[in-house]
Amino acid sequence: MPAIDPKQLKILVTGGARGIGAATARLLAGQGASVMITDVLDDEGTALAGELGAPARYRRLDVSSEADWNAAVDAAEQAFGGLNALFNNAGILGFGKIDETAPDDFRRILDINVTGCYLGMRACAPALRRAGGGVIVNCSSTAGLQGYGGLAAYVTSKWALRGMNKAAALDLAPDGVRVLSLHPGPIRTPMTDSVPDDTASAQPIPRFGEPDEVARMVRFMVCEASYSTGSEFVVDGGAVTGQVLNLQG
Ligand SMILES: NC(=O)c1ccc[n+]([C@@H]2O[C@H](COP(=O)([O-])OP(=O)(O)OC[C@H]3O[C@@H](n4cnc5c(N)ncnc54)[C@H](O)[C@@H]3O)[C@@H](O)[C@H]2O)c1
Repeated sequence: MPAIDPKQLKILVTGGARGIGAATARLLAGQGASVMITDVLDDEGTALAGELGAPARYRRLDVSSEADWNAAVDAAEQAFGGLNALFNNAGILGFGKIDETAPDDFRRILDINVTGCYLGMRACAPALRRAGGGVIVNCSSTAGLQGYGGLAAYVTSKWALRGMNKAAALDLAPDGVRVLSLHPGPIRTPMTDSVPDDTASAQPIPRFGEPDEVARMVRFMVCEASYSTGSEFVVDGGAVTGQVLNLQG
């Protein structure tokens, strides 16, 4: 299969008003893709779509709402004449150990990070079929590859998403839809405002990543990775590579 020219992309990006979603929208739109930016931050999303210009659009989409999903997919198909890609990027972070996380907080994180992505794949699948196939990128995390203390609900959600990604890849393969999971490490976005720089200091690449470094991985997954589905793409400065041991006594 040839690479996909970004100019042929008709992609819906969730959580696209800022952070990783905004960087991806900016990169793909700059290369000629039609991008439906969605979020619950209407001012930021509208401003970004204005900055990028046509055919980029902004539309409000709370990923936990089935009605919002159906309306956004309809709007994207009407605006672009079809939809062939989805970046399930929206997500929320929540701090707390397993026994200190309130049930309502736990459910809310799963509702947005897991059910939101499920609703997105469910709503977009018919449109991707109508387009003759396509690609879905689900934004997990290194927290979907290993555990982190004090992030119980978030880690749970990102592992669930990694598993759902594989189930969806098998289910949608007959329709020509590739489904891939993205696993960023620490990235400097509004989500990590309160996370100190030294969190990344023990990694092989000892710094936070930039949103654009993740956006370039997403572009690769969408446009270049034609022989990959159900698989995991890690962009983490080596965070999950392992430990350096002092074995010389
Ligand atoms: N920043 C990191 O270090 C990091 C690392 C690994 C994974 N991730 C994941 O990357 C994705 C993007 O994170 P980011 O760092 O850009 O965060 P961010 O907080 O800057 O952006 C997330 C966006 O999602 C939107 N959002 C939140 N709830 C929503 C909802 N219910 N419906 C629609 N949109 C909603 C927010 O308004 C925001 O614009 C998330 O899934 C996050 O878990 C981030």
